[in-house]
Amino acid sequence: MRTITFIGNGNMGLSIAKGLKGKYHIEVVGRNRDNMHEFEKALGQKIDKSLIDNFDITRKTIVLCVKPSNVEEVSKKLHGKADLLVSVLAGVPVKTLKKYLKPKSVVRCMPNLAASVGKSMTTLTGDEKGREEATVILNAVGDTLWLETEKELDIATGLAGSGPAYLALIAEAFADGAVKQGLKREYAMATMRGLFAGFGELIQDIHPAELKDTVMSPGGTTAAGYGALEDGNVRAACIDAIEQAYEKAKELSS
Ligand SMILES: NC(=O)c1ccc[n+]([C@@H]2O[C@H](COP(=O)([O-])OP(=O)(O)OC[C@H]3O[C@@H](n4cnc5c(N)ncnc54)[C@H](OP(=O)(O)O)[C@@H]3O)[C@@H](O)[C@H]2O)c1
Repeated sequence: MRTITFIGNGNMGLSIAKGLKGKYHIEVVGRNRDNMHEFEKALGQKIDKSLIDNFDITRKTIVLCVKPSNVEEVSKKLHGKADLLVSVLAGVPVKTLKKYLKPKSVVRCMPNLAASVGKSMTTLTGDEKGREEATVILNAVGDTLWLETEKELDIATGLAGSGPAYLALIAEAFADGAVKQGLKREYAMATMRGLFAGFGELIQDIHPAELKDTVMSPGGTTAAGYGALEDGNVRAACIDAIEQAYEKAKELSS
């Protein structure tokens, strides 16, 4: 079984590791043994755990899962040249990763939290040499899409990487709206969850505008609710959310 080495044992590392469970031998490198133990417990699979100080990454396939601001600090604790570095870090460019970690090849990817249930939409870009292996790794946690430029990856970060948080806001607000009108909380939550499950499948094959037109009959309930969303500038706020996330990615990369 091939070994994948995770540097960082937080939420995203665990989400990806869950998708790889049973398919790869997993090694985790961190700074705190208790946290790595928690990672192993949450994963439910035996892993190798190593402290980061002076850890040798020579010829390894690394999945880097620390925060963007940790790169320099982490790089000082490692030695050797990894074969492939797959970075999940938002906004950290290939050239910065090469400068600090000096791997043979680098692929940046942007998964989302759905990796933990094998349903991440992950965008990737970077060295062509690492493309095949990185794509195989990320395909184990959902769908992948290779992009041509880092600019595209930074834009896609705001869509698929941050998207679960945006949709969570919508999901919670719709359920709150139903409760406000008198639906019991448990019924509102169950209805909202069913809505998202069905919508997730429908949107794979239908253009959003066509889907909306199909649901909206003249003068009906959907038209009334839809008008309220337009009055609340939801469309403009969504477009702005992607712009702000992209601006933040650019800020992190400079
Ligand atoms: N969460 C998401 O939905 C999402 C989506 C796409 C991409 N990302 C990217 O994923 C990355 C990680 O996010 P996260 O949500 O997993 O963060 P997190 O839960 O805070 O995990 C960060 C990990 O980095 C470790 N770390 C920090 N400094 C370290 C050091 N000097 N040496 C060793 N380990 C160190 C932390 O170790 P300790 O356990 O010891 O604190 C922790 O395990 C970010 O760069 C983010 O841009 C996240």
